[in-house]
Amino acid sequence: MILRPAGTADLPRLAPMWRAAWLDGHAGHVPAELMDARGPGHFTVHATRYAGSTTVATDDGGRLLGMIILGPAEGEVVQLAVDGSARGQGVGGALLRSAEERFAGEHEEAWLAVVPGNARARRFYEFHGWRDTGAMTYAAPTSGGGTVPVPVLRYAKPLGALAVAR
Ligand SMILES: CC(C)(COP(=O)(O)OP(=O)(O)OC[C@H]1O[C@@H](n2cnc3c(N)ncnc32)[C@H](O)[C@@H]1OP(=O)(O)O)[C@@H](O)C(=O)NCCC(=O)NCCS
Repeated sequence: MILRPAGTADLPRLAPMWRAAWLDGHAGHVPAELMDARGPGHFTVHATRYAGSTTVATDDGGRLLGMIILGPAEGEVVQLAVDGSARGQGVGGALLRSAEERFAGEHEEAWLAVVPGNARARRFYEFHGWRDTGAMTYAAPTSGGGTVPVPVLRYAKPLGALAVAR
């Protein structure tokens, strides 16, 4: 597996993969208003907008396996998505670890928002040492420039030990 910064050439593959993974994790767990606002166009617009802070995972042949987007808030993992055919093989773990290493030394902790109903993702984060630090409302952006309030859990991982280990 190769991890590298996303490039313009990745965008046509990135947006559909991200959309399919987002639906897997969020359909039925977020307000209908957000589902309505997140058609294919949303992922095309946001994949382009966040390209500079996106890391992709590919196999040795260049097949896109997953992606992680950092920021814009300090220490935030905005999105993590692994293609359905590549799950359970450590791709998500490698991408999450790359984000933790990137933030270590810059931020006390890494954090992200996960919807309570996304049980698989919550299990995954907890396995990787992240903890539920409480409920919050996340202003989820839409491609129209607005936001939709979404009840989420704030998961975080202290990065102190990681910073010392570097
Ligand atoms: C959540 C997601 C990113 C995980 O990616 P992944 O590549 O499958 O992750 P990994 O292969 O590193 O780990 C997957 C599984 O192995 C578990 N795992 C990994 N290493 C393990 C180990 N050594 N021992 C036991 N369990 C282990 C994880 O907890 C997880 O368990 P599950 O799938 O049985 O629930 C992926 O499922 C996904 O893209 N989901 C849809 C999008 C989504 O929900 N994103 C998160 C939004 S907040």
